[in-house]
Amino acid sequence: MSISILGAGTVARTLATALSAKGHPILVGCRNLQSPNARALAALKNPGASLGSLQEAADSASLIILAINPWTEIERALSDLSPASLEGKTIVDLSNNIRFIDPPSLAFTDRSMGEYLQALLPKSHLVKTLNFLPAEMMVDPLTQGIDPAIMWLAGNHPEAKGRVGALLHDLGWKQIVDLGDMSQSRLQESMALIATRVVANILSTASKT
Ligand SMILES: NC(=O)c1ccc[n+]([C@@H]2O[C@H](COP(=O)([O-])OP(=O)(O)OC[C@H]3O[C@@H](n4cnc5c(N)ncnc54)[C@H](OP(=O)(O)O)[C@@H]3O)[C@@H](O)[C@H]2O)c1
Repeated sequence: MSISILGAGTVARTLATALSAKGHPILVGCRNLQSPNARALAALKNPGASLGSLQEAADSASLIILAINPWTEIERALSDLSPASLEGKTIVDLSNNIRFIDPPSLAFTDRSMGEYLQALLPKSHLVKTLNFLPAEMMVDPLTQGIDPAIMWLAGNHPEAKGRVGALLHDLGWKQIVDLGDMSQSRLQESMALIATRVVANILSTASKT
């Protein structure tokens, strides 16, 4: 399974490091090979990870991890790519569209980000997972104290979910639960919102004491 990552920030660094350590060659696609993010990724000297353009990364892989932020930029970044480079492929969606107002809320009330992205890419097979965790906790859950190491995913395409499940196993997740089709990503994104509200509440309380 050839794997690429679109975007070169925090999540891309974490997943490229973990997956290349597991023997997966990873091509990370970025919009500017000289950006601070691209330089930070290159400085990691992961033996199995290399950098290229977004189009090269999309062309080269059968499984593509979307790691573009903020969420409002994802549609723009995807629309710059040749549609054929995404068709029929498994696309991992880790995104959240949380508006950081008081209290934090989701940008869409009628659909999830997962459903929105699947509608943007009707010929691709999107799978939502890992979105509610901070990047560093997406990998090696047992060493982070997440035990039992259970992760879940949602998406419309059973084989794509199987491929992403195998990838999650490689990241250290021991049991993968299939929540159902992409409409179930509403649950996953609500969980991320809860986590954000809890952190915001804790930080606000701490700042008053
Ligand atoms: N960080 C976390 O802990 C965490 C947790 C859960 C979910 N997520 C999700 O994971 C995804 C990636 O987050 P992140 O924290 O890794 O983001 P990040 O560190 O801010 O990196 C974002 C990347 O997106 C690229 N980008 C932004 N706009 C772009 C555009 N129009 N075209 C091409 N590339 C563009 C940036 O390019 P430059 O390098 O050129 O700036 C950068 O490489 C997001 O969907 C986020 O919601 C993150």
